[in-house]
Amino acid sequence: MGTDKALELEPEEIAALEEKYLFATYKRSDLYCSHGSGVHIYDLDGKRYLDFLGGISVNSLGYGHPRLARVLTEQGQQLIHCSNLFYHPYQGALAKKLVEVSGMAKAFFTNSGTEAVEAALKIARAYGNARAGSGKSVILTLRNSFHGRTFGALSITTQDQYQAPFRPLVPDIAVVGEFTPEALEKAFSDRVCALVIEPVQGEGGIVPLPGDFVRAGRELCNRYDALLVADEIQCGLGRTGRYFAFEHYGIKPDVLTLAKSLAAGYPLGAVLGNARVAATLGPGDHGTTFGGGPLACRLALEVLGIIEEEQLISKVETLGNYLIDSLKKMASRHRCIREVRGMGFMIGIEMGEAAKEAVRRLLKKGIITNAAHETVLRLLPPFIIEKTDADEFLNALDAVLGEIESES
Ligand SMILES: Cc1ncc(COP(=O)(O)O)c(C=O)c1O
Repeated sequence: MGTDKALELEPEEIAALEEKYLFATYKRSDLYCSHGSGVHIYDLDGKRYLDFLGGISVNSLGYGHPRLARVLTEQGQQLIHCSNLFYHPYQGALAKKLVEVSGMAKAFFTNSGTEAVEAALKIARAYGNARAGSGKSVILTLRNSFHGRTFGALSITTQDQYQAPFRPLVPDIAVVGEFTPEALEKAFSDRVCALVIEPVQGEGGIVPLPGDFVRAGRELCNRYDALLVADEIQCGLGRTGRYFAFEHYGIKPDVLTLAKSLAAGYPLGAVLGNARVAATLGPGDHGTTFGGGPLACRLALEVLGIIEEEQLISKVETLGNYLIDSLKKMASRHRCIREVRGMGFMIGIEMGEAAKEAVRRLLKKGIITNAAHETVLRLLPPFIIEKTDADEFLNALDAVLGEIESES
């Protein structure tokens, strides 16, 4: 079937094809996407949806951005792929840009978040193995974390539903069960080569880590000659109202992972490392066929250019504060809102069983959100929403919660 034929399919036929031919890994919502424009997605019947999920923190510039469309067309005609055997103009330029904004020293490009995490884990083990006496192989991860689905990343993803079918996992992983400096201190020893954190846990339900905990992590990594790895795949690149979420904590990691919004919809991930780890990977130690291709890297350069030129990060901070303040006020009117958490455009509303129902009803009203961790209504809107869009969402949520509460 050609692409034109696929366009003629009815929603029931699309669902039937998937049910028959795909592994049943995804439980999809009833939204059949056709195209997008600005902050809106349109379904196959032409119904318009306000996007407050941004493709799960990917579409930071919304849909159909003219500058990204131009790069896609131009670079699509010039060179999509040339392999990592050869040079092209964009990989080094993007590495330079990311190094400058993050304070890191080196970069490696991947195709996804989970591969960026794999690279970070390999850097951590190589760093530990290069230390005298070796045995420095333990990687510390946190309760409630999510780092991806490949074996290494899955092994530090401490949520049973993701790990259970696939055990045994990678060895020498230890879990820090409480977000206190004391729990962290107990977990550390000379055998630890890295501590991996999401400064703001994403899939775990939008949980910003406590400041004293993150700062203790930095201090303990220094004391035990271990690496602090910040997984900013979901919370990085402006999402929290700073370029990187670690900036809120006044610390710098040794290793940083990025993906999701890096090329704003085209697959691209990166691992960055500071001078401490610059020599951990040498020729042949790591590689990928697709990672860092010309189209992906040129798109990412354009994305970062737009974010900076349009001063979108300070807009995320201001409008994010407005959203969070408004939601906190709304909590006093709605008993199902138990807590509002987050920073910038990374917001979680803890609401127990009502979260999934709220997602369903908002979708019916033409607003896209999702439920993280089952009980948290998660908002990750594109950086280009305006206050009118924020108000449209707030009014719709207010109405939906009113309906849910009146029926329960
Ligand atoms: C913090 C974090 N790390 C890693 C990943 C995995 O990224 P990907 O799905 O691109 O493999 C995710 C995805 O949600 C994430 O949120």
